[in-house]
Amino acid sequence: MTLLAVEGLTLRNTAGTTLVDDVSFTVSPGDRTGLIGESGSGKSLTALAVMGLLPPAITATGTVLLDGADMIRAPRGRGDVATVVFQEPLTALDPLMTVGRQIGGPLRRWQGLRGDAAKAAVREALSEVRLTDTDRIARSYPHQLSGGQRQRVAIAMALVCHPRLLIADEPTTALDVTVQAEILELLDRLVTERGTALLFITHDLPVAARVIHGTHVMRHGRIVESGPVAGLLSDPEHEYTRTLVEAARRFDAALENTRRE
Ligand SMILES: Nc1ncnc2c1ncn2[C@@H]1O[C@H](COP(=O)(O)OP(=O)(O)O)[C@@H](O)[C@H]1O
Ligand SMILES: [Mg+2]
Repeated sequence: MTLLAVEGLTLRNTAGTTLVDDVSFTVSPGDRTGLIGESGSGKSLTALAVMGLLPPAITATGTVLLDGADMIRAPRGRGDVATVVFQEPLTALDPLMTVGRQIGGPLRRWQGLRGDAAKAAVREALSEVRLTDTDRIARSYPHQLSGGQRQRVAIAMALVCHPRLLIADEPTTALDVTVQAEILELLDRLVTERGTALLFITHDLPVAARVIHGTHVMRHGRIVESGPVAGLLSDPEHEYTRTLVEAARRFDAALENTRRE
């Protein structure tokens, strides 16, 4: 069965402006799919609709079926099926709660784990995202960690209950370039090991190309092109995809020049 089926999803604000326009795509178990587009193209709203987390000011039509559950007409948390990692881990983490308690939250909610069993599972989750000194990290508050450590914690929290779909919404955009590469590698390894489906959202085509296979290109709320990432990079059909590829090439060339200097 299709894990996620989005069909004719249209989102409007209170003024009636269309923010996401007739978007359709599917994600099957184990797929790695991208949503790529410039800032404001409707990627995050699409992700929120999938998670049943749309703000009240947004009205939705169309269908989102997540593991068969209707997330538009009956939105409810399906943290056992799908979870999300956001661009800025501080938005996902509660500043007033220790990391250990936060990761313990989904374990309690979805697996009924408490006490020592929950503590052991938290430590295991932290070591899976390659955090060392897991006892100290579990006792820490988010502000006591670096940006990269916080994103690792957010990933641990998202994956702790083994969801079948992970949505990563610009998961590396707020991080330094070297940390970005580490986090991408970590995500890649974890979803591979577990066979988790990945919906990877980014404005950055080369970043996407490292972790996903097929992608949809979004612009002004619409999907304008879909296909394998390699094909889009070498032979973009839509004018807009071409500009994304060109921008990425210019960036690479500039990087090469600074390396040579
Ligand atoms: N909570 C909201 N209420 C009203 N408009 C929103 C809200 N969130 C985003 N938008 C608008 O919807 C459009 C798409 O936003 P978003 O999905 O965040 O884009 P992206 O993630 O691709 O950068 C933008 O024009 C943005 O201003
Ligand atoms: Mg966004």
